Amino acid sequence: MQQSYLETTKNVYKEAAENPQVGLCCTTTPVWQLPGLSIPKKMLEMNYGCGSTVNPRDLVNNPKILYVGVGGGMELLQFAYFSRQLNGVVGVDVVDEMLQASKENFEEAEKQNHWFRSEFVKLVKGDALNLPIEDNSIDVAAQNCLFNIFKHDDLKKALEEMYRVLKPHGRLVLSDPTCEQEIPENLREDERLRALCLSGSLTLNDYIKIITDVGFGTVEIRAKRPYRILDPVNYDTDKLIFIESVEVCAIKDPMPEDGPCVFTGKTAIYYGGEESFDDEKGHVLVPNQPLAVCDKTAGALGSLQRIDIFISESTFFYDGGGCC
Ligand SMILES: C[S@@+](CC[C@H](N)C(=O)[O-])C[C@H]1O[C@@H](n2cnc3c(N)ncnc32)[C@H](O)[C@@H]1O
Repeated sequence: MQQSYLETTKNVYKEAAENPQVGLCCTTTPVWQLPGLSIPKKMLEMNYGCGSTVNPRDLVNNPKILYVGVGGGMELLQFAYFSRQLNGVVGVDVVDEMLQASKENFEEAEKQNHWFRSEFVKLVKGDALNLPIEDNSIDVAAQNCLFNIFKHDDLKKALEEMYRVLKPHGRLVLSDPTCEQEIPENLREDERLRALCLSGSLTLNDYIKIITDVGFGTVEIRAKRPYRILDPVNYDTDKLIFIESVEVCAIKDPMPEDGPCVFTGKTAIYYGGEESFDDEKGHVLVPNQPLAVCDKTAGALGSLQRIDIFISESTFFYDGGGCC
């Protein structure tokens, strides 16, 4: 039997589809505008995400794109901007009213964008916990502000589903709130708060762990930003709770024997007198040339305790390149 918080979630988004609620979830970054892209007003009002999952770097070689939890369809339109082909983006949502609202928004988008056809997006009714999508068929899968709502076993299932449908080396792009404080149980169990993406967050480390436990061999933390405050006046908590939002890309690379490569934005810089430093594990550091390293490599280089290698803190702004 489906758990009641999942039913509450569906009802919250049925409501949000019928009466757009500006700021239901809100990004702290401006909406991605692109040359020749016009986003219909209602679609903007239905931006229920907490970051962005659209990144042109993921979209080379004509990828097949899956988007789970469509909302008003804004990110699907942004993905379609890059893919521009029949059924190039498949959108899955479990709420009929949300599918209908996004369909209407795509029709409006078609009027405002000469390059766009509604047929570029294929909308499919389905559940993130049981995706109606074939195994190994997707290059880029995305979800924005849905998975944080799921409790542990459901989150694991949702991630396993994404892993199943991705092709080898395919990319799962996620944006979700995270929280480094303990969120009190009464808030965690508040089904509406959870559905509103306010009380289901994990710590970033727990979030990364559940992703890598599912099998993703590479994880990139691309951005981390302040998101929301739960304060004692407006919420049933006696302390201030600070919530952040993250943008993460998990790649279906084989799991390395010594564990996943997680890039949190650390960089190694060699400043010794030799031509280069070679750790003989595939990392060659050239003097004063910054090398992005995963946390595993940062730890291994740090454990050498050399005075001529600097390892930076995590910036949580990993932008590609580097080791592994
Ligand atoms: C917080 S909204 C995010 C919408 C969109 N990603 C955005 O950034 O605007 C969550 C979305 O997930 C959908 N949803 C809720 N439960 C779902 C489930 N179990 N499977 C698939 N979609 C679901 C909702 O209908 C809604 O469209």
